[in-house]
Amino acid sequence: MLDLINVSYDTQIPNNVGLSSDKKVLKALEKWHPGYIDWWNKLIPQNFQESMVYLRTAVSVDPKGWAKFDYVKMPEYRWGVLLAPEVEGRVIPCGEHMGEPAWQEVPGEYRNLMKRLIVIQGDTEPGSVEQQRFLGLTAPSLYDMRNLFQVNVEEGRHLWAMVYLLQKYFGKDGREEADDLLIRSSGSEEAPRMLGAFNEETPDWLSFFMFTYFTDRDGKMQLESLAQSGFDPLSRTCRFMLTEEAHHMFVGETGVGRTIQATCEAMNKAGITDPYDVNKIRDLGVIDLPTIQKKLNLHYTLSLDLFGQEISTNAANAFNAGIKGRYMEGRIDDDHQLKNDTYKVLDLEDGKIVEKDVPALTAINMRLRDDYVRDASGGVGRWNKLIEKTGIEFALKLPHQSFNRQIGVFAGHNFDPDGNHVSGDAFDKGLPNWLPTHADGDFIQSLMKPCYEPGKFASWIAPPKVGIDNKPGDFEYVKLHMA
Ligand SMILES: [Fe+2]
Ligand SMILES: [Fe+2]
Repeated sequence: MLDLINVSYDTQIPNNVGLSSDKKVLKALEKWHPGYIDWWNKLIPQNFQESMVYLRTAVSVDPKGWAKFDYVKMPEYRWGVLLAPEVEGRVIPCGEHMGEPAWQEVPGEYRNLMKRLIVIQGDTEPGSVEQQRFLGLTAPSLYDMRNLFQVNVEEGRHLWAMVYLLQKYFGKDGREEADDLLIRSSGSEEAPRMLGAFNEETPDWLSFFMFTYFTDRDGKMQLESLAQSGFDPLSRTCRFMLTEEAHHMFVGETGVGRTIQATCEAMNKAGITDPYDVNKIRDLGVIDLPTIQKKLNLHYTLSLDLFGQEISTNAANAFNAGIKGRYMEGRIDDDHQLKNDTYKVLDLEDGKIVEKDVPALTAINMRLRDDYVRDASGGVGRWNKLIEKTGIEFALKLPHQSFNRQIGVFAGHNFDPDGNHVSGDAFDKGLPNWLPTHADGDFIQSLMKPCYEPGKFASWIAPPKVGIDNKPGDFEYVKLHMA
């Protein structure tokens, strides 16, 4: 009998989708596998490929105990295809097909739209691993290195998840799309990743933490809306990915938090009370709070761009078709078809930011972005609590949504982080205070020295409160095999 909870290892590709009796798809995946391993092997620096890393691997899709921890060499990680269990009698939750049984196959009329959404989601997964490929070389601790690699192998698995859908449900062009996912590459001139934020560099660990906090959270929101899909295999895939994704944002939130902690503690120890006394603070080997704010500004605004245009007919079509829902669709109290509803979007009128009521169906992206902003502000509040506890007077905040935007109504306009429309001159003048400068980058880079001794941490980051899998503070999360 097909076991849909526990992962079966009877094929090269661990799965809970009965691959061993689905020869065609198994063959396609096996054909794709060497290219994937090749991509991984060329990407991650060689010494880490040989290291034993204390990783979690999914062994079940039961939310109560889905992972087991053990030492693994990353190229031997069992990337697999895992779908959350089928919900019996599941119906399409929104749009014009609302209430109809969820689709087990892709309806012909939505094939292209669906494929595009899956390809875009799939493209982000390897993109982030590419961006983070060199960070192991400067890991501030073995604990952090392990977290980096955990995120990396899971993003790799998310790629597998999307490739499975493409190969199983989209025939020949699905297989071609799957191949292209290994051809595009982050930052490449000829074949970049599809979305802007995935072509930016992740040059240092603070960027990595900001990325996993802000950009993985965009991923969470996208997965949440795809988990509502009327196409059941997509919904089940995304639901399981979300369980893994939570850890990525944990890495981000605690990483930024520990950076803040180290800064504030060092300031207190040195008797520095002014957070803007940047040079003195930097001399302590920690990252000053204003620079942390600038990094936050950058990653947050790049992530906002990932939500696309505030008003979007594509998003309306996807919702209407039942391909994509809203965040927590089931908990929203309306007709789930948005026949007469309106939604408030931000717009520009004569250089002024205004709120405008538009048909809610066209404002799906804006709504998801609003949900994201709420979700993202939680961690900022917790970071501020950390600062407060140390007695330092400083508060981080999310910049206004109009600041530093490349996509949407605010693109091409000069707004400061408070949302004031400013002249080009004033903008250029303010910029070094709002976004990381080259000098900031150089300074952060100067701190990026590896710290590979178990239980030791680089000066700029505090140890975590608890270990992964409840391991003690000096646990050797990565056994480095230095050839
Ligand atoms: Fe992912
Ligand atoms: Fe992620």
